[in-house]
Amino acid sequence: MVSSDNSGGDNFRLAVLGAGPGGYPAAFHAAERGLDVTLVDARAQPGGVCLYEGCIPSKAFLHVAKLIREARHASDWGVTFGDPTIDVDALRDWKDGVVRKMTNGLGLLRRQHSVQYQQGYGRIRDAGQLNIESNGEVLPLDFDALIVATGSTPAVPRSLQVESDRVMDSTDALELRDIPQSLLVIGGGYIGLELGTVYAELGTEVTVVEALPEILSGVERDLVRILERSLRTRLSATHVNTSVASLEEVEGGIAAVIVDKDGVERTEVYERVLIATGRRPNSAGLGLERTSAHIDERGFIVTDQQRRTAEPSIFAIGDVAGDPMLAHKATAEASVAVEAILGEPSAFRPLAVPAVIFTDPEIAWCGLTQSDASALDIEATTVSFPWAALGRATASGRNDGLTRLVIEEGSERVLGMQVVGPGAGELIGEGVLAVELGARVADLAESIHAHPTLNESIMESAQVFYGRSPHYLTRRR
Ligand code: NAI
Repeated sequence: MVSSDNSGGDNFRLAVLGAGPGGYPAAFHAAERGLDVTLVDARAQPGGVCLYEGCIPSKAFLHVAKLIREARHASDWGVTFGDPTIDVDALRDWKDGVVRKMTNGLGLLRRQHSVQYQQGYGRIRDAGQLNIESNGEVLPLDFDALIVATGSTPAVPRSLQVESDRVMDSTDALELRDIPQSLLVIGGGYIGLELGTVYAELGTEVTVVEALPEILSGVERDLVRILERSLRTRLSATHVNTSVASLEEVEGGIAAVIVDKDGVERTEVYERVLIATGRRPNSAGLGLERTSAHIDERGFIVTDQQRRTAEPSIFAIGDVAGDPMLAHKATAEASVAVEAILGEPSAFRPLAVPAVIFTDPEIAWCGLTQSDASALDIEATTVSFPWAALGRATASGRNDGLTRLVIEEGSERVLGMQVVGPGAGELIGEGVLAVELGARVADLAESIHAHPTLNESIMESAQVFYGRSPHYLTRRR
């Protein structure tokens, strides 16, 4: 059982299962606080899906995709480049190098933190012991506390499970074996659009099908519309209200039976298919049933605000412990769990977890939208600043953006922020700070933002609230 005061840490043994952006920060933080920490993961180095086959490699490719796109547009500014010549092996090597640099760096940090590392697959034997399967051996590891940070894996609907090299999940797509002539992306969510646009910029004809009436369901529509305008020029087609009934390997490709909103079926052949229909938590097969911890109907491990399960010695963080499945949420939970283990009154209660879709333009948001606020019976208003009025955006030929603040009536506190535009993911940090610090809209309006920058759009949105944005005419409140 975890005692209420482990701050001395003498020989208090913490095991962390899973070395992704939840697990490795938990291990490092706990070691800094004096606990005896063992980090367990099947891979050779810490990093998890995020570093090996998720956030980081996809951003390496998105960076190249943006470069290609900008080079193409440069002719509008009087500079014409030829069509790109893509050396797939070199591009893949560069991406692999990025991953290697980051994971080796984490390996070094792990040693500097004196965190022990056990490569292998861990299963819970009971509330105080893990069994680690490694090279055909089973090694027992006793713990006083365990943090489960095993992440998630792509969820592929049964009807789409086909044994074929041509059918990829996000991991396969990031291997970039080659650049197919045509690609069907099933799922118009984060992964489908991020990776779909990478392949499109590399020269593949990309078709996206989305089962729901809109892509990026749940994201504010006016933001998505700005992205959609840009996607139209890059993707061959986007079909909403459309699903794929089956996939079958045929000569030269995969035959997909596509069902439109009226139930009409058609068969189309694509060289490759990317399935991006969501992820599921890695909670099965861990041996949690041998403890008092619960798993909910969606497969998430149930925890309290300290990320403690119903088994007092076991904690869970990151994708395996609930939505949103975002790396930075896992990292924030890691601190909470470690502090809870140390007997401190820490709790995971953020006001703003940022989310970023790294398409071009990017979409980012944090805190409440106006409809979230009204669902909570909070009277809120929004103010927006279109990037058509933003000098820096114009100078970069990128007026396809919008910054919006959600403001509580009366208190004038900033409740949320949404941004679409290139670099939206960088801008959202200021929104998170404003929401978490309980900033008033006047704080943003009166803080001097450097000119000419994209983050002036945040100050100017706040000034719109008072009808005194110098670049966007609105009525005074
Ligand atoms: P997602 O939930 O974002 O999107 C999946 C989409 O597939 C949904 O729109 C869904 O309606 C659609 N879909 C499901 N079954 C379908 C079918 N049979 N036919 C057609 N459409 C179908 O899931 P995604 O893109 O796989 O990403 C998983 C999670 O990974 C995300 O929820 C996100 O939390 C995380 N992620 C975050 C990123 C970021 O922070 N930028 C990047 C990539 C992933």
